[in-house]
Amino acid sequence: MDWQQRYVAGDTPWDKGMCSPGLKDLIQSKPVLFGDDARVFAPGCGFGHDVRELAKVSGFVQGADISEFAVARARKEAPENVAFDQLDIFDLPGSMHGSYEMVWEHTCFCAIAPEMRQQYVESMWQLLKPMGMVLGVFFVDPNRGFDGPPFLLQRDEVMAAFSSHFVLEWDEEAATSYPGREGRERLMLFRRLASCGE
Ligand SMILES: C[S@@+](CC[C@H](N)C(=O)[O-])C[C@H]1O[C@@H](n2cnc3c(N)ncnc32)[C@H](O)[C@@H]1O
Repeated sequence: MDWQQRYVAGDTPWDKGMCSPGLKDLIQSKPVLFGDDARVFAPGCGFGHDVRELAKVSGFVQGADISEFAVARARKEAPENVAFDQLDIFDLPGSMHGSYEMVWEHTCFCAIAPEMRQQYVESMWQLLKPMGMVLGVFFVDPNRGFDGPPFLLQRDEVMAAFSSHFVLEWDEEAATSYPGREGRERLMLFRRLASCGE
């Protein structure tokens, strides 16, 4: 998948021009998850809508995307406590390891190839501080059979990928979603395990 080419061509059906409704709900309903001092990493941030929303309730937010085009566009509207950088989540600098309280996941996990899911989990585990969390909207699609990206993703597959490095703290269906995604978005919080048994 050539993400840069898709962005340059304007072929970005995943971009809804606004942050995830699930994220807005979480900020309202579970403010304790967010913190003025917290450092947040947002993989596959695209144009950065979620990053800007998170910046309102976080100390610092790092948006990362492999597409130079998406990052350049995101940078045009970047609050002071935000950095947008072109980064491959499978090749992140060691200086970022252990730096974040939270990873905010939204349609990155379902966009990468299924054989890379375990590597995604390990990469997010490395970024987080002890007791850090992956919080996210997981786009699961039990009923439709397209082959992506986003790739067909089942809740069980999310669990299988994360369970080696994280423990699930809660999981609920998003109360509000982008139109067309109703019933297919799960809000999940995974807590980082101290040891991943390697
Ligand atoms: C389905 S899009 C979602 C974008 C954004 N989260 C949104 O909801 O608008 C997936 C994003 O992941 C990015 N991406 C894919 N592979 C990546 C990688 N290895 N490292 C960083 N970003 C990646 C793509 O460029 C794209 O912006």
